[in-house]
Amino acid sequence: MTRYAHITGWGMSVPAKILTNDEIAQFVDTSDAWIREMTGIHERRIANPEETTGLLATQAAQRAMEVANVRPTEVDLIIVATSSPEHLFPATACLVQDRIGATNCGAFDILAACSGFIYALDIAAQAIRTGSIKTALVIGAETLSRLVNWRDRSTCILFGDGAGAFVLQGSDEPGGVLSTMLRSDGSGGDLLSIPAGGSFIPASPHSVGNGLHFIQMNGREVFRFATRVMAKATEQVVEAAGLKMEDISLIVPHQANFRIIEAAARGLKLPLEKFVINLERYGNTSTASIPIALCEAIEAGRVQRDDKLVIVGFGGGLTWGAATVHWTGPFPSEKKVSQQQYQLLARARSMARRTLRRVEGWIYGRK
Ligand code: ACO
Repeated sequence: MTRYAHITGWGMSVPAKILTNDEIAQFVDTSDAWIREMTGIHERRIANPEETTGLLATQAAQRAMEVANVRPTEVDLIIVATSSPEHLFPATACLVQDRIGATNCGAFDILAACSGFIYALDIAAQAIRTGSIKTALVIGAETLSRLVNWRDRSTCILFGDGAGAFVLQGSDEPGGVLSTMLRSDGSGGDLLSIPAGGSFIPASPHSVGNGLHFIQMNGREVFRFATRVMAKATEQVVEAAGLKMEDISLIVPHQANFRIIEAAARGLKLPLEKFVINLERYGNTSTASIPIALCEAIEAGRVQRDDKLVIVGFGGGLTWGAATVHWTGPFPSEKKVSQQQYQLLARARSMARRTLRRVEGWIYGRK
């Protein structure tokens, strides 16, 4: 029997704090007019110190599970796509796993810069289609504001914080993720990078002093690359799904720059109305941008059952990718799952496990 991977839940979380272009113009040499004209961005959300990548990811995941009406214990796999993980390890996905109380699942992070969400969606959908798992949480989450050099006007204007999540569930009913394509070109890795903090340039006074832990970008080259790949990736993935461009009701592109989306629309000979665009309010939230944009499109009533959608993105690596989705929505279910109850249980369980570990350490440590 053929299995299909449906998107049955969606959720997002963004910090409340808004940073406008005018506010940025108070500390770097730029202007609201320049940023709007060159990028389309008006403002972005900035996390406060308590709002970590893991916290935003957890909140988005809980909202997605509420929509899908699934218990955390039903989740078999959590993938967090992020370019700003809380640590190199443990994976942010494991922090989410603990916080939501998903006691029966594997959890890992994926690093494909802004394309990460599409990569994660592909992996989760494949795992569901093979029958190896039934339910997955796919999350894109970022606090890139902490990795941006706030003195570099060419990058600090672009990025914002936030998270978006999907629940994927397996079913024998046709629909869900129809086709995906993932691509990479490591020869352009230096065009968009955070050079230090890994094993190549470990953290040192020199690396910190030279700002090597901040995002470095060749904006013009990234722009050229993005405009080259977006339209082609969309066409490839639509063809792979056995569809025609006329069948696609909505395209949800990575929200990096309005002009890049405009170029993609021109390349595909489609009107801009077919594209979801919300970058004016959030800037580039990297892996979170596609799920946040889709969440808002659903809330605005732009996505209906049986619609065919494309999601398409690009990012550092260089990486790019796309997916077509046959939209079906949540599976019918009888009893409402109380996410709040599971949250409380998860907190209690986590505390109990930490305490037990401490007690065990105390007992065995004495021998
Ligand atoms: N305000 C005013 N002037 C600026 C600013 C600013 N914020 N930033 C750059 N400039 C100036 C430059 O100094 C330069 O001045 P000069 O000609 O006197 O030297 C001039 O504007 C042109 O600079 P460019 O960088 O060549 O400008 P460009 O037209 O390429 O636009 C931009 C810059 C908006 C960043 C554009 O290149 C872009 O959007 N690139 C794509 C970036 C992107 O999408 N990155 C995310 C990828 S996804 C991921 O994985 C994270």
